Amino acid sequence: MGRDVIIACDFPSAEKTLSFLDRFTGRKPFVKIGMELFYAEGPAVVRAIKERGHRIFLDLKLHDIPNTVKKSMAVLSALDVDIVNCHASGTVRMMEAALEGLTRADGTRPLLIAVTQLTSTDQESMEEDLWIREPIDRVVMHYAENARRAGLDGVVCSPLEAGKVHAVCGADFLTVTPGVRFADGDIGDQKRVMTPAAAREIGSDYIVVGRPITAAEDPVAAYTRCVEEFVD
Ligand code: C5P
Repeated sequence: MGRDVIIACDFPSAEKTLSFLDRFTGRKPFVKIGMELFYAEGPAVVRAIKERGHRIFLDLKLHDIPNTVKKSMAVLSALDVDIVNCHASGTVRMMEAALEGLTRADGTRPLLIAVTQLTSTDQESMEEDLWIREPIDRVVMHYAENARRAGLDGVVCSPLEAGKVHAVCGADFLTVTPGVRFADGDIGDQKRVMTPAAAREIGSDYIVVGRPITAAEDPVAAYTRCVEEFVD
């Protein structure tokens, strides 16, 4: 899989999601399904989007004991999605179990990427709430290395971290980066943002773009602009 734009379909229902996707009559976007939509509609919405020919990143961020994660990943693998994820903070053993669960009898599996530290966690909350007293960028790189050690395919990270992740974990270790905004757009609640063109420069493999596309007056035009800046 090459560089691509993933649309974060953060909608509350299948109906809203499918009518949004109906607008895309040309290139079929890669779609991210998160907890909100999955908990509302279950596996049926994944199947419906898959049947329409979209590639899917199922963003459920699993984090539990290794055995539970392994069994849950086996269920998600049967949905035939393209990318799934888990928290690196679940430990190397948990990530290895995730990978085992995801691998089908014929050896194929979706790509598995890890969340390092959420971008909503800052140095202060990490130190005070989690009692992790290292600089956050070192923690992110350590978690990325753990993910690579466990055999995962990449990490979700800020586009600002993508270059360093590649330097530490290798050029073929995937970086999937949210926090993308157009140069002339609203940044909303994202704090550290980058344009699609800059994310391409720095070496992100996939950008995850939500509101700049979903809330645009013309979502297809906004998506096309992202593709032109990031992929073409
Ligand atoms: O609307 P926006 O472009 O900010 O959407 C970004 C998407 O990426 C959302 O679905 C958000 O939950 C997700 N995400 C993020 N930061 C992370 C991990 C996921 O913004 N660190």
